[in-house]
Amino acid sequence: MDGARFRIAREDDAPVVTALVRRAYRGPESRAGWTTEADLLDDERIDTDQVVGKITGPDSLVLLAEDAGGAVIGCCELARREGDVAYFGLFAVQPARQGAGIGRAVLDHAADLARQLWGATRMEMTVIAQRGDLIAWYERRGFHRTGQHRPFPYGELVNGTALRDDLYFVVLAKDIVERPAADESRGERVWSGP
Ligand SMILES: CC(C)(COP(=O)(O)OP(=O)(O)OC[C@H]1O[C@@H](n2cnc3c(N)ncnc32)[C@H](O)[C@@H]1OP(=O)(O)O)[C@@H](O)C(=O)NCCC(=O)NCCS
Repeated sequence: MDGARFRIAREDDAPVVTALVRRAYRGPESRAGWTTEADLLDDERIDTDQVVGKITGPDSLVLLAEDAGGAVIGCCELARREGDVAYFGLFAVQPARQGAGIGRAVLDHAADLARQLWGATRMEMTVIAQRGDLIAWYERRGFHRTGQHRPFPYGELVNGTALRDDLYFVVLAKDIVERPAADESRGERVWSGP
């Protein structure tokens, strides 16, 4: 892995982010990665307008990881929530680049950014309960199951359908208290690889 360069997405990045998320989460290409929702859902996951909302919305941002050539290879969203909580979502790494530490670097940088921008002390996310491999990965990163569940939004699927009718989310959380030394509040960071 050659590393990655991070920055906060602009509105005109929305189509690229949409394409990356679709490739990583669903459909045949996602199977090149080590974890996918292709056996659970057969829709497009998100549309460009929804991504624009996450990029431009108040207390919301999308973080990008780019390779040396400027191609977007990873992303996540952060949203500020009440109680110094940062919601983490829309997490994706290009399937062919997975397993090289990019995901871990995105997650670490997102936590630092949430602390710097909003003073967040806790990061939360929702994960489909049936995704045991992914939940185990988050647990290795220090997240724990809060015991809370959320319904799966079957009514909000984008141009497609669910392959199961028993999906629901578990809520994972992690305390993020340690502050980074450098000011990276514009989202910029260079990660030189594992
Ligand atoms: C989740 C995701 C962002 C992680 O990105 P990544 O770049 O692969 O992450 P990393 O390289 O940092 O970590 C890969 C991990 O997978 C593990 N792994 C690799 N192959 C694996 C396999 N076949 N089965 C289980 N784990 C595997 C590695 O051991 C590593 O874990 P470790 O760091 O604890 O050893 C990426 O897989 C992805 O885009 N998935 C599809 C979209 C998605 O599910 N997003 C999250 C929704 S909540």
